[in-house]
Amino acid sequence: MNIEPLSSLDEILPLLTDCNLPISDISAASPPQFFGIQVAGSLVAVIGMETYQSVGLLRSLAVSQAFRKRGLARKLVIFLENFAASHGVDSLFLLTTSAEAFFLKLGYTPASRQKAPQAIQATSQFSGLCPSSSAFLFKHVATG
Ligand SMILES: CC(C)(COP(=O)(O)OP(=O)(O)OC[C@H]1O[C@@H](n2cnc3c(N)ncnc32)[C@H](O)[C@@H]1OP(=O)(O)O)[C@@H](O)C(=O)NCCC(=O)NCCS
Repeated sequence: MNIEPLSSLDEILPLLTDCNLPISDISAASPPQFFGIQVAGSLVAVIGMETYQSVGLLRSLAVSQAFRKRGLARKLVIFLENFAASHGVDSLFLLTTSAEAFFLKLGYTPASRQKAPQAIQATSQFSGLCPSSSAFLFKHVATG
């Protein structure tokens, strides 16, 4: 199963909606960078990143029910971390209500909302779309 860059929101948004993830802040004019895994022509897993110079917001990680617990999400996260690091991103931040333990296993650690980079604080997810009870996590991904 290959990971490919995605450009069509038509296949991404239904998967995010099925997985109860927010889509109202995804702009067709300047969408996040999305990657996904297709099986038999259908998108079964997706991950996205908003990039703000040296920091990124990891978002929209979703795997369709039938394909869960096979390591696809972990594979996508590791891919995105490598992509981010090779594109000048030092740290990834994320908000989650449903997968905190998943990300802690992958080396993410709780971050201070007050000390979050300004660009991350300004994202829709940070400033209201995700509930204040969401876990706010980060990981340093730069290799150098
Ligand atoms: C969270 C989600 C992406 C995980 O997808 P997945 O492909 O089933 O995950 P993986 O198979 O790669 O799991 C890797 C490990 O994390 C664990 N894990 C998976 N989902 C988890 C969760 N929600 N909480 C805690 N651990 C989780 C798995 O058991 C596995 O552990 P192991 O290595 O000890 O066996 C999927 O359940 C999903 O789409 N959920 C709805 C959307 C969501 O919550 N997205 C995250 C917010 S950005």
